[in-house]
Amino acid sequence: MQSYHEFLDEVLIPEIELQDRITELGEQISQDYAGQTVHLICILKGGVMFLTDLMRCISIPHTIDFMAISSYGLGVRSSSGQVRLTMDLHEDIHGQNVILVEDIIDSGNTLSSVLNLLGARKPASLKVCTLLDKVERREVDIKADYVGFEIPNKYVFGYGLDLDQYYRELPFIGVVNAEKYTPSE
Ligand code: IMP
Ligand code: MG
Repeated sequence: MQSYHEFLDEVLIPEIELQDRITELGEQISQDYAGQTVHLICILKGGVMFLTDLMRCISIPHTIDFMAISSYGLGVRSSSGQVRLTMDLHEDIHGQNVILVEDIIDSGNTLSSVLNLLGARKPASLKVCTLLDKVERREVDIKADYVGFEIPNKYVFGYGLDLDQYYRELPFIGVVNAEKYTPSE
């Protein structure tokens, strides 16, 4: 198992900047939905750390739920445009103010499929809050309502985002040097 120091190209977003921005996002959401309740939906597993930090910054009443979709194999690779639901939500979202909490939007294919799926269940409203947005990589015309950071087209890890399932625990967002990274067996 490699130490991340061996393949970390740069710390793209340090912990303090992540936390400051998440505080702002939480305050914004609390203002936008003042007097209402919201239902936060997190896509496992990448969005988990963001969700739990974001919750602590949302001062209005809110509930949470989780769903999981298929991933596209291991390694430094992105999605191919098709999404399969592997774990559905536990609660009905009909009539709720739903905010989909995502770690990163890349091509936008994942988000687009998930939004179709959730929209069909007739929530009262449906918005998207993503921590990271790789705008340059977009293949479908889709935008998040709340964006933490727009980032360049580089493969990132940490703060929920994995490399072959590891390194999610790191408190910052780092850029991978693909030449120096070796997937563990
Ligand atoms: P999209 O469908 O192309 O927008 O891909 C979104 C998903 O791809 C994210 O939820 C991540 O799971 C994964 N992904 C895309 N870029 C990165 C990255 O730089 N690091 C880690 N995962 C990524
Ligand atoms: Mg994801």
